[in-house]
Formats: sequence, structure tokens, C-alpha cells
Amino acid sequence: MTEPLPLEGRPADEVLRALQQFGTQDPDYRHGRLWSLVYWLDEDYDRFLGAAYQGFSSANGLNPGAFKSLKRLESEVIASVATLLGGDDEVCGVVTSGGTESCLLAAKTYRDLARATRGVKRPQMILPRSAHVAWFKAAEYFRVEPKLLALDQDLRADVARLEAMVNRRTVMILGSAPGYPHGTIDPIEAMGEIAARRGVPMHVDACVGGFILPFMEMNGHALPPWDYRVKGVTSISADVHKYGYAAKGASTITYRNLELLEHQMFVCQDWPGGVFASPALLGTRPGGAYAAAWAAMQYHGVSGYRELARRAIEAFARIRDGVRAMPELRVLGDPSGPLLAYGSRDPEVAIYAVGDQMGARGWSVNRVQFPEGLHAMVTAQHLDVVERYLADLREAVAAVKVDPTLASKGSAATYGMLANVPLRGMVRQRVLEMFARQYARDGAPLALGGAHEGSSPGAASGAGDRSRQSGASGRPSGAGAWVEGLALRYAQWKRRRNTPRR
Ligand SMILES: Cc1ncc(COP(=O)(O)O)c(C=O)c1O
Repeated sequence: MTEPLPLEGRPADEVLRALQQFGTQDPDYRHGRLWSLVYWLDEDYDRFLGAAYQGFSSANGLNPGAFKSLKRLESEVIASVATLLGGDDEVCGVVTSGGTESCLLAAKTYRDLARATRGVKRPQMILPRSAHVAWFKAAEYFRVEPKLLALDQDLRADVARLEAMVNRRTVMILGSAPGYPHGTIDPIEAMGEIAARRGVPMHVDACVGGFILPFMEMNGHALPPWDYRVKGVTSISADVHKYGYAAKGASTITYRNLELLEHQMFVCQDWPGGVFASPALLGTRPGGAYAAAWAAMQYHGVSGYRELARRAIEAFARIRDGVRAMPELRVLGDPSGPLLAYGSRDPEVAIYAVGDQMGARGWSVNRVQFPEGLHAMVTAQHLDVVERYLADLREAVAAVKVDPTLASKGSAATYGMLANVPLRGMVRQRVLEMFARQYARDGAPLALGGAHEGSSPGAASGAGDRSRQSGASGRPSGAGAWVEGLALRYAQWKRRRNTPRR
């Protein structure tokens, strides 16, 4: 039920109590039950971020000249990030609202650079198959055609195929450090060498890695080179609101030099509202998020981030090794951490059914596809719950082995169908309809089956909600009707295909 705007305002404490009540419906991230979306430490730290945010919640970074405080915070965040990423004094950049904005901006920048310097009118960018979905959004928004680079057997970008894909229309090459689906780091050094030789910019998506890989390296982990120390790398996105443990709404995009960054800028000299210049996608830029990002970085410092990285990677390694020790499961690819995905190696164990069983035990886990798997974005906080998680995972696998029909029940059936229906356009259309329906006036958030399951279709990093599925109108709505609709259309299609033509 949505609340209409009250005719008379309500007392502040009543409003705050209502908000607190809404929060009780959300996934239980405070106890490490959620494996994506949230990078939470503890209540005190949350209050600290809140205080930093609150002090600047009215401040607006739209015009960097107006709030000198915000420009200073931004400059200091960017300078620290540039150093962390192995950049020199020429590296410059902008604080953005999140990883997606940073990725969108890189695609726009390189599209415009190629148009300005080489007259490229039909731009293409080379994306490894495992690129974050933000890149596909960028492709759609900015009309840069994605050319997909296949993965090798370790689920890294297959660099052997890269050079042949580069052509006059290529405006950028992407590598991830690490990629979202499997936590693997692409062979950035080899890709950067090709990019430099062919004169094509290369962006590294370190939205996940930017605030953990440098500290892992300081902690003694041997990682392949992936940052500005690689000659061909021309820009990097790194999120403060992920492993920088900042409040939501803070990422960075940095470029090797100002000539590149210039192509990100927007200027309108003829607007009746005045001559306008903006460095990024947003108009109003939330000062609170920048203040909280700066505060998080000052609070942790190098030693704090090293310790957080140590905890996250210990948790990651224990989960990876725990999964490898289960004969029915396999870790997908060779993840460097802090995230990973695992699938089934036993035909009797459907991994999505294992996901449902984990949901029934109170864990919110995401599903990945091609290959099918469960996903875990492991943070420092998860170190406290690793043993419980692995024990429940063993139980979940055992439960599915005993009852293989679980694969065709609950959300496992839906995820299985989504991953396996060969008509991808049909899946897209049905997801679009279902997703949009949540935004109708009576639209309820959608759960796929169980009360605790993980991601919902169309929002791969979305945690499951616990709400029930019928819309306020009482019409059959939500996942049940939606899955039936997709199954029906798929069955009709199969029948048509199998009916011999006369
Ligand atoms: C590799 C990578 N890039 C980009 C993003 C997008 O970040 P955001 O959700 O902050 O927009 C993510 C999110 O998980 C990611 O894992």
C-alpha cells in the first residue's frame, strides 16, 4: 500500500519511526546474510558515515565553483585514488554517483574522442563477455555497438582473439579487475599492449577492485598488473561505495590525462539559464555522498583498508576452498577475490535449487547464468559468518540431492527457464513487462517464489524481497503469472517449430 501525501505534516519522530519500520522488510545485511549490494561494517560506522553525509546533504556539487568544500573533497578523493591506482600527477578525474555512471561516462568519452579525432561515426567498443551490465546500458544509451570478446577457459577475456577484433570503428577496449560475474581479473597487461599498439583507449572497470586490489597487493598477494602501471590503460573506474565502504552514491572515474577527461565534459554556452558546464552525467551532485566518501577514506586510511582487505580475502578464500571441497560443486573460473561464483558438477544437483535452499535458510544469494551459478560478493563483515554459510551450503546441497524435483519448483524453475529458453528476445520482452509492472501505480515488488530468495530477474544484483506477490488489485501478478506466461509462450513456440509445414 502506498501512502498518499498527508494533508497535514506528521511529527518528525513519527516519520522516522515509519522509516525504521519500512527497513525491517529489507534483506538482513546487518548480520552478513546478504551477498551483494551492501558493504556494511557496524552500527557505529554507519552513524559516522551518516554524520558525514548529513553535514553536506544540502550541498550541491553541480557547479564546482560554488561549493569550494565539495571541490576540495572531490580533488582529494581523486588524488588518493590516482595514487592508489599507480597513476602519476597527470591522472585526473571526477567523483560520480556510482559505478554505472562511471562506466557510462567512459563509453561516452571515448565515443566523443573517436568522433573528434578520427571522425568515427559508427562507434564500436570491445567488451569481454563478462563485462558488467552497466556497459551494455552504456552501449544502448550512447549508441556504441558492443563487440563481445569471448572468455577463455578460466573465464577471463580471451586476449588471443582481441587483436583481430580491433578496427577503425573501435573507440575503446574494456577489461575488468575483477569482473562481476566470476571475480576474475582480465589479462589487462596483454590487452593494454594491444590497445597501445593499435592506438585505441583502454578502460579498466575496477568498480569492485579499485578499493581492494591495491590493498591486497600491499598485503602480499601476487596480482597481475591491472592499473595505470600498464601502459595501454587510459582510464579506470573505482567505486568508493563498494570496497571503500562509503555511503551509497560515490564512485570515481579517472583518466590518464586531461585531454581525455575533456571529452567527458558537457558545455552549453547558449542556454537561457546561463552558460552551463558539467563534468559528469548528473546535474545536481549530492554533496553528502562526496563528504561520506572522503570521510570513509580518511577514517580507514591505508592501514584500515589493508585490514578490511585482509578480512574480506580471508572470508573469500575460505568460501572458495569450502566450495571446492564439496564434490557436487565447482568454483567458476579462477577468481582473484573478493567475489566468486560457483556452480554444480553433479547432474543431480541443480544449482538454482541450492540457491532456493540457501534462501530458505535465510541467505540472500544472487544467481548467475552461462554457466549457471550462485554468486557471492564477499566483504570484511562476512568473515564472521563463513562457517555458518558453508554449513548451510552443505545442507542445501544435500537437500537437493535427496529431492531433485526441487529443481522444478520455487524460483529454481524460473531461473532455470530464464537461463535456458533459447529465445532470448522473448525473455527480454517478458522481463521488461514484469519489471515495468512493478512501477505501475499498484505495482508490488516481485519475489520469484520463496520468501527469502536472491536476485530478481532483470536486476542481477538485486536482493530478493520478502513481500508477497499479488498486486493490490488482486489480479494474478508477480512471478507466478509471469513465469506461466513465459512458459506458455515458449511451449507455443516449440509446438509451432515442431509442427511440420504442409
Ligand atoms: C565490475 C562492476 N562494474 C560496474 C558496476 C556498477 O556499479 P553500481 O552498481 O555502483 O552502479 C558493478 C556493480 O556491481 C560492478 O561489479
